[in-house]
Amino acid sequence: MPYQRNCVTVLLFQIMSLKAIDALPITAHPMTQFATGVMALQVQSEFQKAYEKGIHKSKYWEPTYEDSLSLIARVPIVASYVYRRIYKDGKVIPMNDSLDYGANFSHMLGFDSPEMQELMRLYVTIHSDHEGGNVSAHTGHLVASALSDPYLSFAAALNGLAGPLHGLANQEVLLWIKSVVKECGENITTEQLKDYVWKTLNSGKVVPGFGHGVLRKTDPRYTCQREFALKHLPDDPLFQLVSKLYEVVPPVLTQLGKVKNPWPNVDAHSGVLLNYYGLTEARYYTVLFGVSRSIGICSQLIWDRALGLPLERPKSVTMEWLENHCKKASEN
Ligand SMILES: CC(C)(COP(=O)(O)OP(=O)(O)OC[C@H]1O[C@@H](n2cnc3c(N)ncnc32)[C@H](O)[C@@H]1OP(=O)(O)O)[C@@H](O)C(=O)NCCC(=O)NCCS
Ligand SMILES: *[C@@H]1O[C@H](CO)[C@@H](O)[C@H](O)[C@H]1NC(C)=O
Ligand SMILES: *[C@@H]1O[C@H](CO)[C@@H](O)[C@H](O)[C@H]1NC(C)=O
Ligand SMILES: *[C@@H]1O[C@H](CO)[C@@H](O)[C@H](O)[C@H]1NC(C)=O
Ligand SMILES: *[C@@H]1O[C@H](CO)[C@@H](O)[C@H](O)[C@H]1NC(C)=O
Repeated sequence: MPYQRNCVTVLLFQIMSLKAIDALPITAHPMTQFATGVMALQVQSEFQKAYEKGIHKSKYWEPTYEDSLSLIARVPIVASYVYRRIYKDGKVIPMNDSLDYGANFSHMLGFDSPEMQELMRLYVTIHSDHEGGNVSAHTGHLVASALSDPYLSFAAALNGLAGPLHGLANQEVLLWIKSVVKECGENITTEQLKDYVWKTLNSGKVVPGFGHGVLRKTDPRYTCQREFALKHLPDDPLFQLVSKLYEVVPPVLTQLGKVKNPWPNVDAHSGVLLNYYGLTEARYYTVLFGVSRSIGICSQLIWDRALGLPLERPKSVTMEWLENHCKKASEN
């Protein structure tokens, strides 16, 4: 067994990762704390060790696989540590190995109801991957193309995920919905809601949770969260508001005439579900997304190494190309 490790060493490294987080101020963004903890896990990389020993390139995928499994298993500890540190006075809850991945994570965060555990299984599954075009998924792939190990690559992906145009969208949706309730109350009429949507658009903002770069219909990840809500929280006022938005927003966006996809995306729903079960700290939501994405990114990295994919390098352009491009653009 080339990759067998001593349990005590693993534990020691784990503690070092949490200590690295402790070095940051408690006010640091949860994603900064999470990415720091993941970086500190890198000292355990089997890929790095194997590379230093001169591993043959046909075998790269093996320690990549090993690192990926370890990373996926460990990120819930780091992520839940960040949550408990910031919001629960640092009272850490130990893992329970008789639970599955989603339930175990939910448990360490401090949520033990079977419904929340079921939600976490759903959440982790639907946020795990994004073909390769999305910033975090692509960053993982790009950094790993330099033969950086899975810890280095995944930490880089997390830094991309922390950007407001990317992972922060789910937090935006909940804040927007709460601002609707604050202004119009929970029993808002369809007319009032329509006015609010127009008000948002007229102030030069987007309606968060609607539209997509690629999809041209309702995001299937939205639909499965809706099914979950219909089953477990049909009477929740915020869920009812989300349902009403599903009727009101698409016709308004269509009326704008330029929106390619007026339908809701994955982010339109997730915040309301988490909020219902008591995970109300929207600033933390991107970390949940990050834990989920470890599964997709790491499986892609194993394929990258197994297929021997090359170093990625974007094409550069010349000054002449740029001048021609601008000339053409100004003619249009
Ligand atoms: C997801 C998103 C960034 C895709 O962008 P895109 O590929 O450029 O989308 P489109 O081609 O349909 O955009 C065409 C126009 O419609 C606008 N548009 C698209 N979705 C919109 C929305 N939800 N609200 C208002 N305007 C929207 C765009 O801003 C763009 O306007 P512009 O030409 O004045 O810049 C965009 O739909 C959006 O900003 N949605 C809200 C934020 C969100 O939910 N993000 C999570 C994505 S999973
Ligand atoms: C771990 O989870 C199982 C299954 O839910 C439960 O029976 C057990 O009591 C839990 N153990 C601890 C220590 O919480
Ligand atoms: C439970 O969580 C711990 C820590 O993240 C992990 O080591 C263990 O593998 C998890 N159990 C399952 C079944 O995922
Ligand atoms: C990437 O995908 C996730 C969902 O899988 C979404 O929440 C996020 O907004 C997307 N980001 C971009 C820039 O498309
Ligand atoms: C909203 O309406 C429901 C029933 O129609 C009622 O029970 C509830 O009190 C109302 N809420 C507010 C804040 O007015």
